[in-house]
Amino acid sequence: MSKNFKRTLVTSALPYANGPVHIGHLAGVYVPADIYVRYLRMKGEEVIHIGGSDEHGVPITIRARKEGVTPQDIVDKYHGIIKKSFEEFGISFDIYSRTSSDIHKKTAADFFLKLYENGQFEEKVSEQYYDDEAKMFLADRYIMGECPHCGNPNAYGDQCEQCGTSLSPLELKNPRSTISGSTPVLRETKHWYLPLDKHEEWLRQWILEDHKEWKTNVYGQCKSWLDMGLQPRAVSRDLDWGVPIPLEGAEHKVLYVWFDAPIGYISNTKELFPDSWETWWKSEDTRLLHFIGKDNIVFHCIVFPAMLKAEGTFILPENVPANEFLNLEGDKISTSRNWAVWLHEYLEDFPGQQDVLRYVLTANAPEAKDNDFTWKDFQARNNNELVAIFGNFINRALVLTQKYFKSQVPPCNELTDYDKETLKEFADVRVSIEKNLDTFRFRDALKDAMNLARIGNKYLADTEPWKVAKTDMKRTETILNIALQISANLTIAFEPFLPFSAKRIREFLNITELEWSQLGRADLLKVGHQLGTPDLLFAKIEDETIEKQIQKLLDTKASNEQNERATVPVKPNIQFEDFEKLDIRVGKVLECTKVPKADKLLQFLIDDGIAKRTIISGIAQWYKPEDLIGKQVCFIANLAPRKLRGIESQGMILSAENSDGSLSIIEPSTEVESGSQVK
Ligand code: MF3
Ligand code: ZN
Repeated sequence: MSKNFKRTLVTSALPYANGPVHIGHLAGVYVPADIYVRYLRMKGEEVIHIGGSDEHGVPITIRARKEGVTPQDIVDKYHGIIKKSFEEFGISFDIYSRTSSDIHKKTAADFFLKLYENGQFEEKVSEQYYDDEAKMFLADRYIMGECPHCGNPNAYGDQCEQCGTSLSPLELKNPRSTISGSTPVLRETKHWYLPLDKHEEWLRQWILEDHKEWKTNVYGQCKSWLDMGLQPRAVSRDLDWGVPIPLEGAEHKVLYVWFDAPIGYISNTKELFPDSWETWWKSEDTRLLHFIGKDNIVFHCIVFPAMLKAEGTFILPENVPANEFLNLEGDKISTSRNWAVWLHEYLEDFPGQQDVLRYVLTANAPEAKDNDFTWKDFQARNNNELVAIFGNFINRALVLTQKYFKSQVPPCNELTDYDKETLKEFADVRVSIEKNLDTFRFRDALKDAMNLARIGNKYLADTEPWKVAKTDMKRTETILNIALQISANLTIAFEPFLPFSAKRIREFLNITELEWSQLGRADLLKVGHQLGTPDLLFAKIEDETIEKQIQKLLDTKASNEQNERATVPVKPNIQFEDFEKLDIRVGKVLECTKVPKADKLLQFLIDDGIAKRTIISGIAQWYKPEDLIGKQVCFIANLAPRKLRGIESQGMILSAENSDGSLSIIEPSTEVESGSQVK
C-alpha cells in the first residue's frame, strides 16, 4: 500500500430489510468484514465498521402489498431481526442503523440536490407503463406478460424466470399490471440520470491502472463493465416508497434505491459521529473499504464512486474486497424458495455455537469462486478440526496444569531443541497470518491460526507430559509452561475469527484481552499466575444432529417442488374453435399389460365404440394393469399416432397430475356408452 493511511473506514453492504439474514450473507460479507476490523482494532489502529439495513426498493413494497401491511411495517420487523442476528454472531459494528431514518433521508436528499445543482445529472423524459386503475407507474416487477423468447405467459417486466432472459417491460407481449390486472398504458415521465459514460475515462484509469491490486474477481468484473461501455443510469423512480426527490414537480418520485443505499454508509457515520464524520469521509488519509458480495460490485466500484466524484468532496474506496456466492448443498441460496440456513434458526438448533458457523464459513469462504456449504462438511470441520485439534489442545494444557500444578503457571526451565523449534515455528506463522489478513485472504489466515493450534496439539502429543510427570517434574513444568503460552497466543490469533471462543479461553486462563503485537511471544503468562477453571471449548456434533438438518432441507425441497407443480401458470387463452379441434371420447379397457423393459408404460386395448385401438400410457407407476381392465377411460381420439417403444399408440389416455407428480385416470362419473364424446 503506497499511501500512508491514518484510519480505516470499513463498510459492510446494507442488507435489504425484506427478510432475515442467512449463511450466505455471513460468509460473503459480514464475517470477513468483522475479522478484518477486529484484527485492526487489536493492532490498535483507528477503525470503524459501518452497517445498517437497506430499507427501500420495490421488493419491499411488493412484500408489503402481499402481506397487506405497510412497507414501514416490513422494514421495522426485519431490521430488528437482522440487527439481532448480527449481534448474536458477534459482527462488531460501531453502528448498525437504517435507511428509513430521518438523518439518512436528509443526507441522501441533500446529496442528490448538490449533484443536481452542480449540473451532474441529465434529465430525460421517456415512456413508461402506467396503471390507470391503480393510478401509478409500474416498476418492472409489477408488470407481467408473455416472454418474446420462450412464450412463457408469466414473464416479469425485468426477467423471464422460465428462460432466464433479462427483459425490459416494453418487450413483453400482452402486458398486464400485477396490481390491478389491467392492461398498462404508456405515459411520459421525467427522470434524472447519472451520466456514467462521462465518468468512464477516469474510472478506467482509477480502477484498471491504479488499482491492479484489487481481487481478480472484482477487477475482472469492473473491466468487463468498462469494456462494454458505460451508459447513463436513472437515479430516480416513480414510486411512493423511498427518499422523495427534493425538487418541485417531482411528486411520487423517489431516489432509486441504489442511489440512496450507499449514501446510507455516510448517513450512518454521521449518526455515529455528528461532529467528526467528515474526517472519515473527506480526508485523504482515511482508507475506505467496502465489504460486499459479487452482485454489488458494479454499484460499489463504478456507480457509487461516480456519485462521490460528482459530489466532489469525498474520498473514493481504496479497495472493495467482494466475495463470490455461497451455495447450500449444491443449490443457489434463495430467500423466496426458503433454501437457506437462517441465522436465527441456526441458533435455535445450535445454541451458543456461533463460532462453529463462523469457522466453517471462513474456512469455506467463497473468496475467489462460488463455494458450497454442506452439513457434512460442517460436522467434519467441527469434529476433526475444532474439537480434535483446537479444543483438545486447550483442554489438555489446562487439565494437566490443574492436575500437576494446582492450576498455577509452572516455570519454564531448560529448553530442548524441540521446544525452540516449536516456538520458532510459532513466530513464523505470525508473519503469514498478517500477510493474509492484510490482503483479505481470510481462509488462508484462518488456516494459519489453525496451524498454531495444530502445532500446540502436536507438541503435547510428542512431549507426552502425562508420562514425563512420573519421572521428571522439571521437564513437565517446562512443557506445560510452553503449552500454556501457546494457549494464550491462540486467544490472540483466534480473536478476529472466533471471538466467543477466544473469550472463553481467556476465562480459562484468567487473563484479559491481549494485543495483536503480543502474538508469537512465549512470556504472556507469568510464572505462578493462577488459571481459571477449564471447560470444554467445542462439542462433538453427532450424526443425528446433522441428519436432522439435512432432512429439514429435503423437506423444503419437496415442498418447493409441490408448490411449483401446484402453481403451474394457466396457459394463454384459446378460442372455442381451438377446443373443438380436439376429439375426446370415452372408451372401455379391454386389455391392459405392462410394456416390457419400460417402467412407466402400460399398453391398453380400448373399445372406442367403433373399433379396438391400442394406446400406450405412462401411468404404470400408479396402477396395476389388472385393476384397469373393464374401466372406462377418457382419451384423445384424433391425436396423430406415435410410436413408443416400437408400438404405435393411437391416442392418449387422460389423467390428472397431483402435486406430488402422481397420476390419476379420468373416468366418467356414471357409465356411458363406449365412443361417447367429451365436450
Ligand atoms: N441491499 C443491497 C443488497 O442486499 C446492498 C446495498 S449496499 C449499499 O444487495 F451500498 F447500497 F448500501
Ligand atoms: Zn422466456
